[in-house]
Amino acid sequence: MSDKAKAKQRIEELRTEIEAHNRLYYIDAKPDITDREYDQLLQSLEELERKFPEFESPTSPTQRVGGAPLENFESARHAVPMMSLSNTYSKEELVEFDHRIRKLIPEESFAYILEPKIDGVAISLRYENGELVRAVTRGDGTTGDDVTANIRTIHSIPLRLSDLMPPAVLEVRGEIYMDTAGFAKLNQQRQDAGQEPFANPRNACAGSLKQLDPREVAKRPLDAIFYATGKLDGISFETHEQMLQTLKGYGLRITPNYWLCQTIEEILDQLDVLENMRHEFPFEMDGGVIKVNERRLYEPLGYTAKSPRWAVAYKYEPEQAETTLRAISIQVGRTGVLTPVAELVPVLLAGSTVRRATLHNEDEIRRKDIKIGDKVIIEKAGEIIPAVVRVGTEKRTGEEVDFTMPTTCPVCGSDVEKREGEVALRCINLQCPAQVKNWIAHYASRGAMDINGLGEALVEQLVDSGLVKNPAELYSLKKVEVLGLERMGEKSADNLIKGIAESKQRPFDRVLFGLGIRHVGKGAATILANEFKTIDALMKADLQRLETIRDIGSIVGKSVVDYFQAPDALAVIAQLREAGVNFKQADTGGSDELEGLTFVLTGSLETMTREEGGDKIRTRGGKVSSSVSKNTSYLVAGENAGSKLEKAEELGVTVLNEEQFIALLGSDEKRKDQKAGQMGFGF
Ligand code: IVH
Repeated sequence: MSDKAKAKQRIEELRTEIEAHNRLYYIDAKPDITDREYDQLLQSLEELERKFPEFESPTSPTQRVGGAPLENFESARHAVPMMSLSNTYSKEELVEFDHRIRKLIPEESFAYILEPKIDGVAISLRYENGELVRAVTRGDGTTGDDVTANIRTIHSIPLRLSDLMPPAVLEVRGEIYMDTAGFAKLNQQRQDAGQEPFANPRNACAGSLKQLDPREVAKRPLDAIFYATGKLDGISFETHEQMLQTLKGYGLRITPNYWLCQTIEEILDQLDVLENMRHEFPFEMDGGVIKVNERRLYEPLGYTAKSPRWAVAYKYEPEQAETTLRAISIQVGRTGVLTPVAELVPVLLAGSTVRRATLHNEDEIRRKDIKIGDKVIIEKAGEIIPAVVRVGTEKRTGEEVDFTMPTTCPVCGSDVEKREGEVALRCINLQCPAQVKNWIAHYASRGAMDINGLGEALVEQLVDSGLVKNPAELYSLKKVEVLGLERMGEKSADNLIKGIAESKQRPFDRVLFGLGIRHVGKGAATILANEFKTIDALMKADLQRLETIRDIGSIVGKSVVDYFQAPDALAVIAQLREAGVNFKQADTGGSDELEGLTFVLTGSLETMTREEGGDKIRTRGGKVSSSVSKNTSYLVAGENAGSKLEKAEELGVTVLNEEQFIALLGSDEKRKDQKAGQMGFGF
């Protein structure tokens, strides 16, 4: 076989393998490889596609990251109009719906299916011969916006259907949504960055889909569920349930629950069950959709101008409660943003007592005309923090008081400022205890330095007692000082000091994330650490250099440059360096002993996971690959090594058992203890 033919075959193999892992991860929630291994597969595919551009394909898993920004969205016509559903809030109307149907088709017997009604944005996807060719919003039902580039970035949507004989045309319809946890996180990030938060997950989702830059969309936690079809060619379904199961088989996500009911009475009972489950769904659910299961009846039942007669939506009343706004307090976040919070007379809502609700910012308070003492209606959607949706202005007594944001920080008394283009007010004092506490808590958090035993309460005490003013000062804490804190015993003090000392060894990307540079989340921190390897190299980088890095835009770039120009930040970095915190991505005293060598790990190792083994190789400058080739330097074979071992033997690649592998790393491990450069490394 020619090199080209081999590459083509390998590309196809890799695509199929990655698609299968995508499905396990995003649809079945049962991943069977690590993120690293997945990234390696993707990297191998990217390399091959770069070498053989003739085999590039828009449906390749490498094409998800987001293409170039668009000028505007093209309009696209729906082959079959996208209809809406008629809505009802009353069970009597559902009984009438059932009567109407039975009158129209008196001879037929049929069942109903009840599904949750997802509160998102409707979408129609068109697959031709199994490949995603277009994604169009509902628009006016006849014509919508072509948002294919944005939809491609949603990992749970397959770019190819998993079927060897897919139909010629399959149009599926469903809902794009933002899950409630992802929404809360996104809004927090927006608030920290001084941006206007989204009112609810549906707005956040619609706003995301309207972005012209798919790379921005790729950062939003979007997902999709499919529940209907449009044009079909080469496939048909007898029942709705069969259709759902077929979509599932293709790798399309369907609703996590649906109920097949024989009568409308069963549906009415089931609707109560569904309402009680309302908050268990990871998306906002605002009702149930009732559909006739037998698709052959769709035609005889027909359509009204806007909606089918074989389906109806039953909407639940939004969960709201009325209470009194006692006061408005101000919270100061890690980036110094002042957030007004409604202090409420406690009230029961959606199963829990609500005492506080977010008011986002001053503009929001003005827009909603909120005054202290007002009767307010609060609403809770999903797991989201309750929000004030409306003021009962008709109930005002005249005693209510206007609220104005403070001109100084309520925590430290420093001035506050409003930056250009932002709605939020910020405390200008970087040493503000509120900012410091949040900063240290962030530094110690699991995603960053993961300091055992350093929770929020302890951070509070450390800062209030004046022992710690920045994360670097954690490293000079003495046991006696810690013992002086309230409720602190010998053992906890020892653990804390040990946890802090251990954190010095964390990889550089975690340290970088822990510094709390604005806009530098975990992902950006990892990219920067991998790109620059050391803090010194990163500190020297200018905006132009930073902007050349994939996935680092001008916002992150500017923030990084600004950060390293601030004298306070430089002082903290110097202190951290002094304390021995790791500022190099390869934490082996700059080891590059394995540079130029490529390893493949297979089978199960006894003393470490394959991922840990891979980390050890990478930190010594080696590369880890997922497949054996003639370029493989070593295959590390653990227990039950299978086909990779055979292949290595076939190609004459050196095979190491675990002991030999450890020996190879071991001389370097010792070296690390005895400080870099004192001992040679030979193998
Ligand atoms: S079926 C022919 N099923 O709610 C109509 N729609 O208010 C096919 N929606 O237009 C729609 N969950 O955007 C259907 N399980 C579900 C749904 C659902 C949410 C949306 C959809 C629809 C709107 C009607």
